[in-house]
Parts: sequence; C-alpha cells; structure tokens
Amino acid sequence: MLKRLRALVYWAWREFFRGHHPTEYYNSLAKKNIYEVAVDYKKRVNNFKKLRQFIPQPCKTMVDLGCGTGAMMEALHTGVFSIIGVDRSAGMLGIAKERFANDSKVKFIESDFISVAFPINSVDLITMGFSTRYIPPEKSLAFFSKLHSWLTPQGKFMVAVTKSYTGNFLGIEHKIVGKIPWDSYFIKIVKPWFELEAEVKMDYFLFWRHVGLVFRKK
Ligand SMILES: C[S@@+](CC[C@H](N)C(=O)[O-])C[C@H]1O[C@@H](n2cnc3c(N)ncnc32)[C@H](O)[C@@H]1O
Repeated sequence: MLKRLRALVYWAWREFFRGHHPTEYYNSLAKKNIYEVAVDYKKRVNNFKKLRQFIPQPCKTMVDLGCGTGAMMEALHTGVFSIIGVDRSAGMLGIAKERFANDSKVKFIESDFISVAFPINSVDLITMGFSTRYIPPEKSLAFFSKLHSWLTPQGKFMVAVTKSYTGNFLGIEHKIVGKIPWDSYFIKIVKPWFELEAEVKMDYFLFWRHVGLVFRKK
C-alpha cells in the first residue's frame, strides 16, 4: 500500500505539478518500473477482464489506443484473433513488448493515437484504458469520427474511465484533469457516433472509482 502511494505521488507530481509532457513522464514511470506498482497491474488486468463478455464475436482485430504496458491486451487476449497496441511512450511500449515477446497475435505501433490511421471498416474492437484524458478537447470530434470509421458494422468501442463523485459540482473535477476522462461527459461527447451498451463497475482506490463503458457503433 505504501509503495503504491509513493508511486502515485511520484506520478501525480510529474503529471499535475511539474507539467511534464505525458511521453516524458510515462517514459520515466516505465524506466523505474513505477507504473505497474502505481496502478496495481494485476488488479487492473482483472478489472479489464470484466469487459470480456462484451467482445464482439467474431473479433478479428482489436486496437488498443494508449496501450501502455499491455493491461487491456492481456485482459481481452483470449477473445480476439489479433491485437495492435498503439502508444507514443517508448518506455511503456518496451514493457508491453517484453510481456508479449513470444506472442505472434500481438503487434505494436509507436505513435500518437491522434495521428495513427487504420483502414475504414477494418477493426472489430477499439479499446482505451484510462488514456482518453490525453485526447485534446479541440481534436476530440475529429478523433471519435475517425474511430467510428475504422469499426466494422458490428464493431465496439470500450473505454475505462473515472467515475464522477460529484457530478462535476461547481466544475471542480473538469478543472482538475480536463473534461474527457469523466464518464458522464464522455458518454455525451461520443453520442453522435456511439451508443452506450453497458457500464461495468471496476476498481476502487482511495478517492478514485473506475468504470468500463461499452459502446456500439451507431
Ligand atoms: C494511464 S496510461 C494507461 C495505460 C494502459 N491502457 C493501462 O490501462 O494500463 C496512459 C497511456 O496512454 C499513452 N498516451 C498518452 N497520450 C497518448 C497519445 N496521444 N498517443 C498515444 N499514446 C498516448 C501514455 O504513453 C500511457 O502509456
């Protein structure tokens, strides 16, 4: 517990107080192997496994945007035929690549998910585990429209996000970490392209509550 708290403080210091670029602090979290302590990697994988029941069948291609060290890919691995993880932190990808080193089903692209491209109608499942807060709000409409175009007609979009405690009382939560991470805002913003199929309860740690949101393509 103490080790995890220390790791979270190290992370928060870099993200919220020092204002480092995300790629920079994720590289440093990965180098010191702090990331997986901070998020409790095993617990995270178990929570993401709750999304397994919603994987479209068949699922030929899954794309995990902001895949980090591979928690979502590990959790949904058995239900899909091939997986592509996208992340712009070489450090985080390094850990994921090691994890799946002998697994021909899993490939990686080191790229910004804002600029990465896949063919229209080619992806059955898109996932984002706690990486939606890095979508710049001014680019979000173009981004979700792009994701919608990649998906096959039966395709799904699944995200893990933070649940609001206060319903954004006085705008406080949105001010702290931006708007996109919060569940209610997220559901609203993707409405033109995706309809909510399910909300899945996940983790609980100190004042964080996490949920998985499962969307169908409209
Ligand atoms: C909170 S971590 C989540 C990692 C993983 N999905 C998980 O749940 O453990 C966020 C990840 O998103 C990546 N990321 C942030 N902005 C990105 C961007 N614009 N393009 C690609 N990856 C990005 C970071 O490098 C980091 O690995």
